Amino acid sequence: MKTTQAGDVVLVTGATSGLGKACAEHLAACGYRVYGTGRRPSAPETAGVTLLAMDVSDDGSVKDAVRTVLDREGRIDAVLCNAGYGIAGPVEETPMSEAKAQFETNFFGTLRTIQAVLPDMRRSGRGCILVVGSMAGLAAVPFQAMYSATKFALEGLVEALRLETRAFGIRCAVVEPGDHRTGFTEARRKTAVPGSPYAEAMGRSLGVMEAEERNGADPQEMARLVERLLRKRRLRVRYMVGPGFQKLAMMLKRILPSRTFEWIIALYDKV
Ligand SMILES: NC(=O)c1ccc[n+]([C@@H]2O[C@H](COP(=O)([O-])OP(=O)(O)OC[C@H]3O[C@@H](n4cnc5c(N)ncnc54)[C@H](OP(=O)(O)O)[C@@H]3O)[C@@H](O)[C@H]2O)c1
Repeated sequence: MKTTQAGDVVLVTGATSGLGKACAEHLAACGYRVYGTGRRPSAPETAGVTLLAMDVSDDGSVKDAVRTVLDREGRIDAVLCNAGYGIAGPVEETPMSEAKAQFETNFFGTLRTIQAVLPDMRRSGRGCILVVGSMAGLAAVPFQAMYSATKFALEGLVEALRLETRAFGIRCAVVEPGDHRTGFTEARRKTAVPGSPYAEAMGRSLGVMEAEERNGADPQEMARLVERLLRKRRLRVRYMVGPGFQKLAMMLKRILPSRTFEWIIALYDKV
């Protein structure tokens, strides 16, 4: 398998803020030719990165942005599918429109991006596809069920994609961040129904989550991990990054009886 090296072309979706911005800037500083995308490409300056407009929930927008990079560079060596956002609300009360919109960006947006870059990677017999999942895609978070579901879905997508594309020299993995300090917390959309029987528990639980996010890890940590992964010949299926106690919790999920793990999570999340 060929690795991705300085000088190669990398596409980073959701590069206008947070984790994507940190990764794009770090890769550019390491000598990669980086194209970053977002719906607000003129937003904050992203050092060394060429920003393009791209809404991952729109077929034409994704195709246009990928075509622009291929026309300019002749190739895309790696992609970091990072664009995403979170919604919060009880399962029972989440409007179907919000649930579908969550999947449209986080899951189908990632799928669209992968489908757009794959033909070039497959023909040239090399490429690296890194998908930003979440620890919430390993252990579901109460009152963020739709968000968790999109991230669980990405795990399945990547597991299958690896098997389908390895014959073409394409390396794929999921990067699973725990809580990081980004624009994610402010961007979260909350569905609130007046007088909801879930309101109190949701308020407590979300309070814990948001405090963890605001005190979360520095996005630079993930940026350094992504750069290391690009240079690796063989990738594992998944890589966690973030606070140590959250990584430990994910390991416990694998070994503890499911009801014991659930009891710990319920205690921690105050539900
Ligand atoms: N922060 C955390 O604690 C955390 C933990 C686990 C996983 N994650 C994941 O990390 C990824 C990045 O999130 P972040 O924390 O960096 O949040 P952020 O600061 O809010 O950044 C989100 C990025 O996604 C882009 N985006 C959102 N919707 C889009 C759309 N429809 N089309 C194109 N771009 C879109 C935004 O760009 P525009 O607004 O310009 O479109 C922005 O650049 C997400 O997939 C998130 O689920 C974050």
